Amino acid sequence: MTIPSTNPRIAIASDHAGFSVKETIRKYLESAGYAVSDLGTSSEESVDYPDYGKAVGERVVSKQSDLGIAVCGTGMGISIAANKVPGVRAALAHDLHTARLAREHNDANVLALGGRVVSGEAAIRMVQVFLTTAYLGGRHQRRVDKITAIEKQERAEAAKR
Ligand code: RB5
Repeated sequence: MTIPSTNPRIAIASDHAGFSVKETIRKYLESAGYAVSDLGTSSEESVDYPDYGKAVGERVVSKQSDLGIAVCGTGMGISIAANKVPGVRAALAHDLHTARLAREHNDANVLALGGRVVSGEAAIRMVQVFLTTAYLGGRHQRRVDKITAIEKQERAEAAKR
């Protein structure tokens, strides 16, 4: 089935530990008709996950892509790095439940996965859920707004230093 062009444009990246799962996800997304920007890495040669978390985050915040997928060994390092980019809400998911709640409650714009934690098959199922689940808004909006307020406050305080 070809996905209509209204479907989200996806940025994807990984470090070496997430490379294999990243490739599995990329191939799935391309075969499903998504527009995918692969920001690397391109092999299992050792690289540093912050570079790739930053790249995905910046691509999403600049609106060149609508949503991001970031994979390192555990998903932790790359999600921490992506979350340093203002405007990014990267959520580390381990199963379908957390992948769904990342969208419904947190309006996550980056899904982080652990390439040494989940199988390629499980990763694809989580990606499918993440990409097709809507943010619920409502009471969650106040909390997401508070996250944005923290970013604004930190930026204002940094500017004063
Ligand atoms: C790389 O060995 C590993 O530390 C990295 O992929 C990630 O799991 C860090 O959080």
